[in-house]
Amino acid sequence: MANRPETIEWIGDTDGYLCLIDQTLLPVELTRIDCRDAETVWEAIKMLRVRGAPAIGIAASYGVVVGMQTVDDSDRAAFDDRFAEVADYLATSRPTAVNLFWALDRLRKLVADNSSLSAADMRAKLLDEAKAIHAEDREMCHSIGRFGAGLLENVSGVLTHCNAGGLATAEYGTALSVFFTAQDQGHNLHVFVDETRPLLQGARLTAWELMQRDIKATLICDSMAAQVMREGKVQAVVTGADRIAANGDSANKIGTYSIAVLAKAHGIPFYIAAPSSTFDLAIDSGDEIPIEQRAAIEITNGFGKQTAPDGVEVYNPAFDVTPAKYIAAIITENGVIDPVTKENVVAMIG
Ligand code: MRU
Repeated sequence: MANRPETIEWIGDTDGYLCLIDQTLLPVELTRIDCRDAETVWEAIKMLRVRGAPAIGIAASYGVVVGMQTVDDSDRAAFDDRFAEVADYLATSRPTAVNLFWALDRLRKLVADNSSLSAADMRAKLLDEAKAIHAEDREMCHSIGRFGAGLLENVSGVLTHCNAGGLATAEYGTALSVFFTAQDQGHNLHVFVDETRPLLQGARLTAWELMQRDIKATLICDSMAAQVMREGKVQAVVTGADRIAANGDSANKIGTYSIAVLAKAHGIPFYIAAPSSTFDLAIDSGDEIPIEQRAAIEITNGFGKQTAPDGVEVYNPAFDVTPAKYIAAIITENGVIDPVTKENVVAMIG
């Protein structure tokens, strides 16, 4: 992987702290921030300093650990009260990526299953679990890359949307892991990178990650995807996901749905790459996925420059849902779901 600091790193023991790349400053500044309390972690997730579904889940897990550092180690009842408060609080940071809730639920179960442990031992166990969530994500991303690279053997140009790279996960990414693995296997792809919504994760983050790896990257605006497909420049699309319903409907960064429809119109396979932690089998379809609405200022005053008239009405959904019928296959760490049906999703993930 590129020689750069880790996206997410725990420094020290149970009394240590969380260190994150501040992704809002990329690609101009590569700066890390230290998070020593749950409030700082919440703010980092809310403000997209750390973002991407798997990365949010990992950061929140460590957020619980720092949030528990103020508790009296000899008082288990106080530990349980504080734990519930911290986990519920971190769950309010962002609504769409299910990895956040998946990780917090995993910690909740751990605490409930170990009610006889002291508060001190429980804090140590929480840190171990957060580290396990972090390490497992790294492994899942590697595996996704291996399964995905196999689908692109006859492809030279691909398109990806938003950022599903090492910055969005523990390390390799989901969609980008497919391209990194292809490169490791000697297959160099030409990746067309969508800009995405006003926060420009494609331009700022994906282009940066691909260039660090010497993968040929061409930046386009979202509105150019149809023309790029029409010109035959891409033969596949691979994106990540923030939440996948039991029927395969997949929420991802706003604009993904339109790219999937365009890909279908051009006979180009549209793939989602995501770990099992991104599936929400409790919901039947994408209609039940909560879509985050973000502040109007992201559209009217992006990066500090006013680009719309004062007082204009704005609609700013951060995600959309691509219906399963537009998804050629979902690449997971367990294998490829193809075709995307509820039966196949449940068989792979359930
Ligand atoms: O708002 P963001 O930047 O958190 O949105 C991220 C995405 O939509 C990613 O594509 C998705 O989380 C997959 S990350 C492996």
